[in-house]
Amino acid sequence: MTGLSANSQQAPDIILNDVGPRDGLQNQAKVLPPEQRIALIQALIDAGLAEIEIGAFVSPKAVPAMANTEQVFAGVRDAKKQANTTFSVLIPNMRGYQSAKEADVALSSLVVAVSNTMNEKNIGMSTAKSLEVCEAVFAQAKQDGRSVQAYVATAWECPFEGKVAAADVLDVTAKLIAMGASRIVVADTIGAANPNSVKNLMTLLVENFGSDIFACHFHDTRAMGLANVYAAIDVGVRRFDASIAGLGGCPFAPGASGNVATEDVVMMAEQMGLSTNINIPALLSASDLAIQLTGTAKGGKAKLWLEKYYK
Ligand code: COA
Ligand code: ZN
Repeated sequence: MTGLSANSQQAPDIILNDVGPRDGLQNQAKVLPPEQRIALIQALIDAGLAEIEIGAFVSPKAVPAMANTEQVFAGVRDAKKQANTTFSVLIPNMRGYQSAKEADVALSSLVVAVSNTMNEKNIGMSTAKSLEVCEAVFAQAKQDGRSVQAYVATAWECPFEGKVAAADVLDVTAKLIAMGASRIVVADTIGAANPNSVKNLMTLLVENFGSDIFACHFHDTRAMGLANVYAAIDVGVRRFDASIAGLGGCPFAPGASGNVATEDVVMMAEQMGLSTNINIPALLSASDLAIQLTGTAKGGKAKLWLEKYYK
């Protein structure tokens, strides 16, 4: 096959963070036990993912599927040491940060929605209050020498308030960067962005802060996930969240369906001559496992095609 490079040892052109074990599993009807979550993460490590979001330190009442994330982390931390994968966890507040610190997870991801209503529904506080909490977490992380990044959620549209102004996204992003965010993950929480709106917002952000600090997180609700990834690549973004088999969705954001499938992003990037350093047969096995464990999702659009050449 032309255009699909073998696993290379060089740094990849496109760096993927698989959020399937968090965004993917948090919204499933079936809550997976820690052993199965560990098996899925192990399969993603085997596929060569640079980063994996392994879970969340959130209220188990709010998101039952993410309970026992510390057990999941304990089950995979040794495998990670050999594989050089960066693990992260989603956190909503200081308590989440402290749990991540106690477990010694390398990277924590604060989540802040630009739209107030979404932030209230998701983590029980206004966006302004969240930014105060973030400030305290970043200050603590600095003292502790730990990395914390931030999701800027509902960056294009909010399920409750509609379109979100780019100026508001810029404002929240600027504040988080000033506080010390190691990276900003610009998130299309419900999959409402389109390639033009991605190009416009990401150009504005990149012009202000450079491209290295950004990652993009797209949901494929309206089959525009991959087009949106392309639009972001075109303006210099190189890091993307994606979810194995396209699992995902936010339980607090009506209408959100799965993330853009990791399989789809890998296929598009490699076909465009952009390396991902993903082992595709191993990725297909991880996808099979994700589907088998959850009973949902299809592996994106690319899976059948990839299977023809790699299985
Ligand atoms: N981890 C675990 N438990 C936590 C916690 C954390 N980071 N932060 C707070 N809690 C506990 C509290 O101790 C309290 O427990 P109790 O009911 O046994 O007393 C309970 O969660 C509720 O906390 P409270 O401070 O009253 O706030 P709340 O009810 O508004 O909930 C959050 C706030 C942030 C804890 C909750 O909304 C949450 O976990 N949201 C996560 C949402 C999410 O993961 N969304 C998907 C990702 S975008
Ligand atoms: Zn998401």
